[in-house]
Amino acid sequence: MTTPRRYNITTFGCQMNKADSERMAGILEEMGFLSVEDPNEADLVLYNTCTIRDNAEQKVYSYLGRQAKRKHENPNLTLVVAGCVAQQEGEALLRRVPELDLVMGPQYANQLQDLLEQVFGGSQVVATEPIQIVEDITKARRDSDTTAWVNVIYGCNERCTYCVVPNVRGIEQSRRPEAIRTEMIELAAQGYKEVTLLGQNIDAYGRDLPGSTPEGRHKYTLTDLLYFLHDIPGIERIRFATSHPRYFTERLIQACATLPKVCEYFHIPFQSGDNQILKAMSRGYTHEKYRRIIHTIRHYLPDASITADAIVGFPGETEAQFQNTLDLVAEIGFDQLNTAAYSPRPGTPAAQWDNQLPDAVKADRLQRLNHLVGTKAAERSQRYQGRIEEILVEGCNPRDLTQVMGRTRGNRLTFFPGDFAELKGQLINVKITEVRPFSLTGEVVQRLAPV
Ligand code: SAH
Ligand code: SF4
Ligand code: F3S
Repeated sequence: MTTPRRYNITTFGCQMNKADSERMAGILEEMGFLSVEDPNEADLVLYNTCTIRDNAEQKVYSYLGRQAKRKHENPNLTLVVAGCVAQQEGEALLRRVPELDLVMGPQYANQLQDLLEQVFGGSQVVATEPIQIVEDITKARRDSDTTAWVNVIYGCNERCTYCVVPNVRGIEQSRRPEAIRTEMIELAAQGYKEVTLLGQNIDAYGRDLPGSTPEGRHKYTLTDLLYFLHDIPGIERIRFATSHPRYFTERLIQACATLPKVCEYFHIPFQSGDNQILKAMSRGYTHEKYRRIIHTIRHYLPDASITADAIVGFPGETEAQFQNTLDLVAEIGFDQLNTAAYSPRPGTPAAQWDNQLPDAVKADRLQRLNHLVGTKAAERSQRYQGRIEEILVEGCNPRDLTQVMGRTRGNRLTFFPGDFAELKGQLINVKITEVRPFSLTGEVVQRLAPV
């Protein structure tokens, strides 16, 4: 009997990559591979890579260097680079790291088995040609058994001038509503309680499906999809990300207010609070429009959590323009904001411009913005003090094993004393006793004994 081969996947980047990694892990397990924690013990090492900023890309090269060395001692090691760096670099990656066996873009995640069979047949394989994504027939091996990602639309048709995603993820491809519903029914049968629907621009969902019209009168939208999915028994919570301010609709907010399982949580990146910068970014909205969206959300759902992404130090950004970003953040009060210093990316328009800012200016603005974000998040957390919140128990608190952790409907991480084996996957009412900027602590609300 041969010993089973072992695999390790390291994932960088966003939720799409995490979802792709889970599907690739599922394929490897169906092929008989066993998972190991330490890449140095694996016979197959797969890096699922991100290229959104330069530091994300550089990290991969240092990891790869170490595995390439290992391969000299162990020629049976299979080395795979998947994801967005693979798509961006293609053949060039093989020249840089000739030890690689397989370079595969994100659109090929579902075809890992076919590609590996070519590798085991003796070829070095590069799979980066744009393709129609094969509908998911594989069983994902998911990291959580309570919450799951479900892709609804792949790719992005926007052309934000700083962003590599359209180059590496290809054009928009929506999955059929029935396929998404079937996947969620299976998840419910396996005991999953929460699903996050994923798309780089999830508001574009449906516009490429047959029957949709080019004028934009879509036959099928994200809102329709939510109505179609919300009644699946067993799935208690539905989230979606990422929303684009340009396409975000009042109808969608109304759906969230109407459908009890759809959480009061919105992730809507604004990127900049300045109209000239937004124009240079080709974002297609103004800060006034963004403020109106938030206002409308708070009209229907006063307690909704709102998170976003922002970039500082975009080419040409003046101190006054940066101040407009600070003003927007101060006014809106985000529950969480992912911030980044602008990083010039290959193949994007803004990287070619000659008005790049010095790193020191970017770092200073990033630090000032982060400080404000922390202050505002702390203020937002205050509203939870003393409240009873519904928490979906997802795990043990790694720092205190007498506590479990989960999230509020608004996505705040919450800890409370309890036994994970008993509470796993349950919705528990918790009274919040302690608030921090990005997390909460509480205790289980005593239920009265039935009379
Ligand atoms: N589709 C999402 C964002 C995907 S990328 C959207 O439209 O908002 C995730 C985040 O990375 C972006 O929101 C942006 O804030 C950041 N980002 C993208 N390209 C970047 C770059 N070149 N430099 C710095 N941050 C960048
Ligand atoms: Fe990038 Fe813009 Fe597409 Fe988001 S919408 S993935 S920022 S191009
Ligand atoms: Fe990174 Fe690709 Fe996601 S570049 S952020 S992993 S789409």
